[in-house]
Amino acid sequence: MYSEISVNLGNFLLSLSDAMDLASPAVASHQQRTAFIAWEMGKAADLSEDTIERLFIAALLHDIGALSPEEKISIHNFEDDNPEKHCIRGEALFKLVPWLEPAAGIIRSHHKGWQKWEEPIDMPVVLESQIIFLADHLERFINRRQYILHQNEQLTAKISSLSGALLHPDVADMFIAASRREEFWLDLMSPRLYSLLLHKGPYRRVEVDLDGISKIGTLFRNIIDFRSRFTSTHSSGVAECASTLAKIFGLTETEVRLMEVAGNFHDLGKLAVPNSILNKPDKLTKEEFAVMRQHTYFTFSILNTIGELRQIAEWAAFHHEKLDGSGYPFHCKADQLNTGARIMAIADIFTAVAEDRPYRSGMSRDGIAIILKNQADAHLLDSRIVNLLLENYDEVLAATKEKQAGVKEYYENQFALLGQKEHVIS
Ligand SMILES: [Fe+2]
Ligand SMILES: [Fe+2]
Ligand SMILES: [Fe+2]
Repeated sequence: MYSEISVNLGNFLLSLSDAMDLASPAVASHQQRTAFIAWEMGKAADLSEDTIERLFIAALLHDIGALSPEEKISIHNFEDDNPEKHCIRGEALFKLVPWLEPAAGIIRSHHKGWQKWEEPIDMPVVLESQIIFLADHLERFINRRQYILHQNEQLTAKISSLSGALLHPDVADMFIAASRREEFWLDLMSPRLYSLLLHKGPYRRVEVDLDGISKIGTLFRNIIDFRSRFTSTHSSGVAECASTLAKIFGLTETEVRLMEVAGNFHDLGKLAVPNSILNKPDKLTKEEFAVMRQHTYFTFSILNTIGELRQIAEWAAFHHEKLDGSGYPFHCKADQLNTGARIMAIADIFTAVAEDRPYRSGMSRDGIAIILKNQADAHLLDSRIVNLLLENYDEVLAATKEKQAGVKEYYENQFALLGQKEHVIS
């Protein structure tokens, strides 16, 4: 039933972009506004529809390589002394998905000032990178506490002062042409910008198959997990464990694949949780845990925007729900938790306790069995699935560990060397 899925790309990209900027008011809507500016500049310069679409999508996700809210904030405030790192990671991430790949070069160069380019401005990647460079800078120059029409002239003067140095004069002129009307500035800062981009934004409705969805799942799995070495393979482990359990349980082949996709997406909402909370080695305070509790809410609300993916949304987002209704944040009861959701909850716990963390090593088989059995006896987890896992323990563990080892290698080769700060509170 899922061989061809019609994805509402605009809706999905927007909710992802929104979620990435949600963790702090300092960066809220940053990528949406950057996309709006780039789009308006593209229209003012009469660029082709394809170019504008590529520009727009690149701008919406341009900081995708800044993996933690902390890193995003420091880039936004011009405090990061080496913004290059998030550009390199962003390019590698874009290359994982076929319909993002054409914009990978723009992501790589979106912090490259004009004086560093050796190629002419009319080369597509140069022009588009310069447009996003300008849009990103303009958005960061805005004083969020001041009415926009009280600062637009200063902002325009600031952009003009970069012309010929960090910006090619043609790109600065493109901006001047696009921003003449007050409407530009009012749209830019409007609380309704999201719906404007959703209904009028320059993207097509794309058809993707399960493979396509699966690639997006891998991309976001990496964004979530690669924030810390200790969680770098968590979602891959959950996805593998959940799909292996689904197969043993007797679900169909398509359902097994969907389970893997849902596992890759299960912690998607952690985009909105700061690293200082995610990586904290001690017990979270009440306030910190309250922030943590929103992550599966966002997993659900983002996945639910794709359309036709309700099954994946539920399987992914209900992994902290308990059969007696005591889980969070939806407090689903047993009759709302189908087999897939129950498998995911167990796969999440199993993978987490089997993993090494900074403050403890992975638990032994006996320790894991006690944790799972206690929760099954208390009617929190499904005892049929817990038993199934314990009966097939070696097979499930081997599959999970093998998958995690492969991803670990990719992480160490491509990402770990980029010196991401761990932001662990000691
Ligand atoms: Fe950036
Ligand atoms: Fe940015
Ligand atoms: Fe979670």
